[in-house]
Amino acid sequence: MNKVQAVLSKGKGTPVSLETILVPDPGPGEVLVKVQACGVCHTDLHYREGAIGDDFPYFLGHEAAGVVEKIGDDVDNVAPGDFVIVAWRAPCATCRSCLRGRPWYCFDSRNAAQPMTLEDGTPLSPALGIGAFAELTLVAAGQAVKVDPKADAKAAGLIGCGIMAGLGAAINTGGVSRGDSVAVFGCGGVGDAAIAGAKLAGAHTVIAVDIDDRKLEWAKGFGATHTVNSREVDAVEAIQGITGGNGADVCIEAVGLPQTYEQAFFARDLAGTVVLVGVPSPEMKIELPMIEVFGRGGQLKSSWYGDCLPTRDFPMYIDLYMQGRLDLDGFVSESIGIGDVEEAFHKMERGEVLRSVVVM
Ligand SMILES: NC(=O)c1ccc[n+]([C@@H]2O[C@H](COP(=O)([O-])OP(=O)(O)OC[C@H]3O[C@@H](n4cnc5c(N)ncnc54)[C@H](O)[C@@H]3O)[C@@H](O)[C@H]2O)c1
Ligand SMILES: [Zn+2]
Ligand SMILES: [Zn+2]
Repeated sequence: MNKVQAVLSKGKGTPVSLETILVPDPGPGEVLVKVQACGVCHTDLHYREGAIGDDFPYFLGHEAAGVVEKIGDDVDNVAPGDFVIVAWRAPCATCRSCLRGRPWYCFDSRNAAQPMTLEDGTPLSPALGIGAFAELTLVAAGQAVKVDPKADAKAAGLIGCGIMAGLGAAINTGGVSRGDSVAVFGCGGVGDAAIAGAKLAGAHTVIAVDIDDRKLEWAKGFGATHTVNSREVDAVEAIQGITGGNGADVCIEAVGLPQTYEQAFFARDLAGTVVLVGVPSPEMKIELPMIEVFGRGGQLKSSWYGDCLPTRDFPMYIDLYMQGRLDLDGFVSESIGIGDVEEAFHKMERGEVLRSVVVM
């Protein structure tokens, strides 16, 4: 048993706190990871706002890279000392989706079997089955994905959630390809990664939409060819204007709000694709004219984790990063300590950062 300090959310809307937790040594099929860096994602904030569930206490942090400390029995994909990114999808290979050859939708993704707990034995709910704002975390072997150890841990960890979600929303879910026009609503870490993904995939026009000029400026650095401040102008009209009156081939919603989803829906060209990667809260509703849903054709899709397959995608994106073709460092706005997560949430809310990254 290992005793470490961890960032916990103990109740809806209350500030996170640093607590001592117990992390078991790995059992069969489990891996103990020494976390080196872990990004602060908006999903962590959703947890602490009670927007994802009511299973407090949550053990936050899920965008992590580190080194395998120990492995349990029957683990053959990693060895102690390997540099890994922790994934929140580890396909089971036996659920109905995996059996249909679609492991990126796996309905029974693997997590550690043993719980991490408070000192009194209270089990923790690890964010997205990870929990990584701590020196150590226990995960299922399949969640530990080996990548090039020369990559900087701060940048690599981000591939473990938000940046992968954005890249994959464009490339995997949206199927962006050469010559496409793409509009991205919300230019936080996820949206900017969608912009970077659209650029990598060869999009011709990449329109960044946000309500914050600072975010729009950063979005240009990741490949936005046009920017729209939707607080100042009508986003749908602006996108139609930029795309010859037609709308964009692929519209990616990376905020998680009904109004931005509706903008994405109406800013799309005929037969185009809408991708929802932003996470809504349970009470949100959208209302759309059904005739438009029918008449515009195309596809309305949701993107869980960018429809990624971590073992296929993580090493590939890390290699692109090492080749200088994907700017992961650009997402790291600041390095912070493990006690600074609550303040990082406020910086995120004020729009001051793309990613604050906790360095252990
Ligand atoms: N689907 C997935 O697998 C997945 C994975 C990670 C994160 N997410 C979700 O993606 C969303 C974005 O995450 P993030 O970390 O980039 O968050 P973030 O807070 O860094 O970025 C959100 C951006 O949206 C902008 N915004 C807010 N209201 C807006 C509006 N009305 N119109 C246009 N822009 C607006 C903000 O200015 C900000 O730039 C969150 O909902 C998060 O939970 C989804
Ligand atoms: Zn499965
Ligand atoms: Zn995340």
